[in-house]
Amino acid sequence: MSAPSSPKVWTVLELLKWTTEHFASKGIDTARLDAELLLAHALETDRLKLYVEFEKPVLEDERARFRDLVKRRATDRVPVSQLLGEREFWSLLFKVTSDVLTPRPETETLVEAALARLADPERAWRLLDIGTGSGAIALSLARERPQAAVTATDISSAALQIARANADELHVGDRVRFLEGSLFEPVEGEQFDLIVSNPPYLAGSARQTLPPELAHEPDEALFGGPDGYEVLRPLAVGVIEHLTSGGHVLVEIDPGQARSLAEWFAEAGLVEVETLRDLAGRPRGVAARRS
Ligand SMILES: C[S@@+](CC[C@H](N)C(=O)[O-])C[C@H]1O[C@@H](n2cnc3c(N)ncnc32)[C@H](O)[C@@H]1O
Repeated sequence: MSAPSSPKVWTVLELLKWTTEHFASKGIDTARLDAELLLAHALETDRLKLYVEFEKPVLEDERARFRDLVKRRATDRVPVSQLLGEREFWSLLFKVTSDVLTPRPETETLVEAALARLADPERAWRLLDIGTGSGAIALSLARERPQAAVTATDISSAALQIARANADELHVGDRVRFLEGSLFEPVEGEQFDLIVSNPPYLAGSARQTLPPELAHEPDEALFGGPDGYEVLRPLAVGVIEHLTSGGHVLVEIDPGQARSLAEWFAEAGLVEVETLRDLAGRPRGVAARRS
């Protein structure tokens, strides 16, 4: 099949087939899904509707839009979320740009575990999300616990702007306070019923081995210094004084970091230290409690 820039009339199905093969040949694992999402975006429709429009010819201007998206995906390895400008997380839609980490499905493990600890849905819980990025965790919790007062922090002012826009879009802007600063700096002297964080935890030394898509996400969202612990360690050591008595902390980690984090929590005096596992059984977080 010739490339979709040729003058022939292309149908939806032909474009999908060509693009899927093209993406696969570039080593993109989710080739068919990516092709469908990008074509739906170029045609201003949704992905499932493509299935009833397989034989429909694609107009030249739609194809030009699609070609540009395909090139940025295949050649520049821009993540699909950034090409679409959005990503679903916890069944909510979040605006996503290169200023924030694209929310990942594994982070839903943390939201689920947090909600299990916020048993009374009507209580006015005081919640803190450190390193909120797009606001994925903080805003999902705000939606699920309508009386909660949520604080969301980040060292990146650009990220906080996106998180604020998402809070307004999700109608929780009046219950979420956004503060700029590192770790506990912006909440000095304050205590919370639950503190959650998905901090940057990749080791800088692993940079060369990571998928090329990560180059489009902010360094400060991904890398926790040379060994990956530059943010995790002070977070683990300092969290206890910001928890109310009985308050919970939940932190996302790389599977290999669970043991170190659990030890630091215990050394700091936290109790009920527990590993959180994803659906595949991998350790994805560590939770603990102030007695
Ligand atoms: C892995 S991303 C998580 C984003 C979002 N919470 C999520 O789960 O999708 C880490 C976030 O922490 C922020 N960050 C990095 N270092 C920080 C620090 N020392 N204090 C506060 N936030 C930090 C980054 O800017 C980034 O937005």
